[in-house]
Amino acid sequence: MSNLFNMAENLTIAQGSKNEKYESLVPQIKALVYGESDVTANLANVVAALKQTFDFFWIGFYLVKNEELVLGPFQGPIACTRISKGRGVCGSSWAESKTLLVPNVEEFPGHIACSSLSKSEIVVPLIKNGEVLGVLDVDSDKLNDFDATDEKYLNELCEWLSSIF
Ligand code: SME
Repeated sequence: MSNLFNMAENLTIAQGSKNEKYESLVPQIKALVYGESDVTANLANVVAALKQTFDFFWIGFYLVKNEELVLGPFQGPIACTRISKGRGVCGSSWAESKTLLVPNVEEFPGHIACSSLSKSEIVVPLIKNGEVLGVLDVDSDKLNDFDATDEKYLNELCEWLSSIF
């Protein structure tokens, strides 16, 4: 069945704390994805909903294809298209199968500067059956812009998202 009634323009953005925004957003994201089986369409709407809510500088998915991370659906300025395993924050998150919260990207060895405006970031792997399928990368133009709240909700979201692949 078509997902006509869950269109992105109906997104409600909660006022209040970051916590309240995530609490309101997560069920809306699940409703948005419900009934649609196309992974690209779903990932595209997920990043759009997150961008609309938090106005992140850059947010997007990199997906593992032939032993490389390849740029997927994103919102923000143009970005690097391919990242090797272990390179930069995204490649390290993939290699280590774990979320990386980087308060200052200049202090992260091997950080890939797709944009010189990017100052801090969080990268969350999408893991299914022990295998990394890709990563969600969120970049900010402010230092130290991500915290335990982002980590908690983005981890939960990516854990759930892995199940739609
Ligand atoms: N900052 C990332 C590269 C991707 S772009 O920022 C969109 C990294 O070092 O992995």
